[in-house]
Order: sequence, then C-alpha cells, then structure tokens
Amino acid sequence: MAEKVGILIGEAEVEAKIEEMAAAISKEYEGKTVHIIGVLKGSVFFMCELAKKLTIPVTMDFMSVSSYGDGTTSSGIVRLVKDLDESIEGREVILIEDIMDSGRTLSYLVKILKERKPASFKVITLLDKPDRRVVDIEPDMTGFIIPDRFVVGYGLDCAQKYRNLPYIGVIEE
Ligand code: PRP
Repeated sequence: MAEKVGILIGEAEVEAKIEEMAAAISKEYEGKTVHIIGVLKGSVFFMCELAKKLTIPVTMDFMSVSSYGDGTTSSGIVRLVKDLDESIEGREVILIEDIMDSGRTLSYLVKILKERKPASFKVITLLDKPDRRVVDIEPDMTGFIIPDRFVVGYGLDCAQKYRNLPYIGVIEE
C-alpha cells in the first residue's frame, strides 16, 4: 500500500535554512579547511546542498553505521559498517546528520571520532526530534526542530523510499 505523504517543510524553506547554516559555518571556519563527514545514507542530500553553499575549502568523507533491532524499535546497539577512508587527526571535522532521534547514533559516533584527535569536532543536523532523545547529547547546530512524526524526504526514507523528495515530507496516518 502506498503511503500518503504530506509536506512538513517545503523545498524553499529547506534551501533557505541550508543557505543560512552554510553562511554561519563559512564565517566560523574562515581561513580553514573543513572536513565534513556524512553518515550514510540519510545525510547525503543535506551534505551535498550544504557543501555547495560553503565558501571555504571543503574535504569530504563518509561512514556508515547500523543499529541492531527488530526494524521498528532499536536495541540501542550501534555497529560500524563502513569506516572513514582518511584520518581525521588534526582536522576541523564537522559530522553531518539528516536527523537526530534517540541520539544513540550520534553518541556512538562522537565517542569513536573524538578519540581520533581531530583539531575540532562539531555536529550539525538538518532535523532534530528532541522528544525522542534517550541519550543526553545535543548537536552544535540544528536546521529545524520537529515534532515526533514519521518524516521522509531530503535523504530520509520509509522502507528506503522517498529519500529523493526535495522537501521534508510527513507520512500521513
Ligand atoms: C538515521 C539518521 C541517523 C539516525 C538517528 O539513520 O540518519 O543516523 O537514524 O537516529 P538516532 O538518533 O535514534 O540514533 P538510519 O539508521 O535510519 O539510516 P539511513 O541514514 O541509512 O536511513
């Protein structure tokens, strides 16, 4: 059965927010090269749009993690599926997420990446659902704080579909 997808945040609003975030990052890291790390797969769309709008030099890498669980509820155990290709030691690292939910993924990633001695380490997320947090962790920069609804688009999926929607959609009950 096909889901009905409504619009939670329209394309123009998402683009404007990413522009604003990129301007803030470009200003903060002026004179430096930022190394942005995307967490596959969801963060890819946000990461690309953000990177195109940055006015400072950028390098990129990707990693992939998965949570054990029964598909709907996470066990909270995060497993590294694909590690970074390059060392982050001494680099200005920004971890890019599409969404923060329980905070478990981010908590795991922050722990393993900070041990690798980056010069600086920040986390930015396009969306945040603070109502779902089970781990005490916050991003350094957030695009939109959203309610606890099933969102898709801009990298976010429902059974791997809808990642390509150019807006933040919501699955309607
Ligand atoms: C999503 C998102 C984060 C994580 C956030 O990834 O991209 O990595 O969940 O959830 P948490 O705060 O509860 O840990 P997902 O596991 O859906 O993989 P995907 O990016 O490949 O869709």
